[in-house]
Amino acid sequence: MKTIDALLAEGVEGKRVFVRADLNVPLADGTITDDGRIRAVLPTVKALADAGAKVVVASHLGRPKGAPDPAFSLLPAAERLGELLGAPVAFAQDTVGPAAHDAVDGLQPGQIAVIENLRFNAGETAKDDAERGAFADRLAALADVYVGDGFGAVHRKHASVFDLPARLPHYAGYLIATEVGVLKKLTDDVKRPYAVALGGAKVSDKLGVIDHLLERADRILIGGGMAYTFLKAQGHEVGISLLQEDQIPAVKEYLKRAEDKGVEFVLPVDVLVSPDFPDLKTKAPANPTTVAADAIPADQEGLDIGPETRKLYASKLSDAATVFWNGPMGVFEHPDYAEGTKAVAQALLDSPAFTVVGGGDSAAAVRTLGFDENAFGHISTGGGASLEYLEGKTLPGLAALEN
Ligand code: 3PG
Repeated sequence: MKTIDALLAEGVEGKRVFVRADLNVPLADGTITDDGRIRAVLPTVKALADAGAKVVVASHLGRPKGAPDPAFSLLPAAERLGELLGAPVAFAQDTVGPAAHDAVDGLQPGQIAVIENLRFNAGETAKDDAERGAFADRLAALADVYVGDGFGAVHRKHASVFDLPARLPHYAGYLIATEVGVLKKLTDDVKRPYAVALGGAKVSDKLGVIDHLLERADRILIGGGMAYTFLKAQGHEVGISLLQEDQIPAVKEYLKRAEDKGVEFVLPVDVLVSPDFPDLKTKAPANPTTVAADAIPADQEGLDIGPETRKLYASKLSDAATVFWNGPMGVFEHPDYAEGTKAVAQALLDSPAFTVVGGGDSAAAVRTLGFDENAFGHISTGGGASLEYLEGKTLPGLAALEN
């Protein structure tokens, strides 16, 4: 994979460089609540602009239905990019139409334009190769060179991720190079003991990665909504907790395989329960009760790991040499259910291990709970992308950069 350093060495002065970023940031009423993904692409955009490129930044945001939808405009992200760069950033109100061409044609060397949400065009996400290819052709008309730096989207076979690099000289940006370097340390070159904390709502999202980890990890800690399917698979009642009944056979098989291979599976020993899901808007006190994980009352829902589990998980992470964490341990958005996720984040900070926080909700949790993100070994910008990498899947956006 050629990287941006090779491109800079070749020279980009006056060239139109298309940077496929992942500026898919969370928004609340049009305000960005976590700009981590925008900050992550700054080194690439800065380096290109400093070298005199005409930089065209593109991304998706949310999941609009293939047509313009103001609720998913990239404008707030473009504005934030300009603030962080301390430089003007032009914004085109379409993606491949006249506004985009005007914006790109108006760039002087060293200037930057952001084009509107790629997913306002059905061709971006089309399953049909010809439809995606036709959209990629129109994107290719905007640039001379392609730099892939949207790590969070490399698992998507989308026009701007997969088809466009085939049409232009292509390079990996600094973010993708860093992310891949880190994930390699979790696959090819793991320092042991290797401990993994997995949370989040659904077991079904994590089956592939658990399958992979059973061959590589020494210890797997389970939290979040998915823990209740594990507890049920062990024969415990879980009340009205989140449960994926249909996944119980797969979970049982994993527990058995772990035992056979000597991989330690660690499940919660106590949990915080309540009859009601908390109000995440008002954050009104939820007054949960702590119960043993094998004694969840029939009318209650588990919403976070309990205090004994927090201690147990911290100790299971403390002597690891490598730690990967993906997924919150509870409903961390509510203060009464944030302690489990905080305890895992703190355990990573206290550990001398190489620590990786795997994207999505866990990265947002780290930042919104007030932790210093620089204190972690690496916080990935890709939730789904990092999990699919760890599953050993071929990621279209990385394969395209390698060809
Ligand atoms: C993400 O948020 O994981 C990436 O931006 C990819 O978004 P998607 O799941 O909508 O493709």
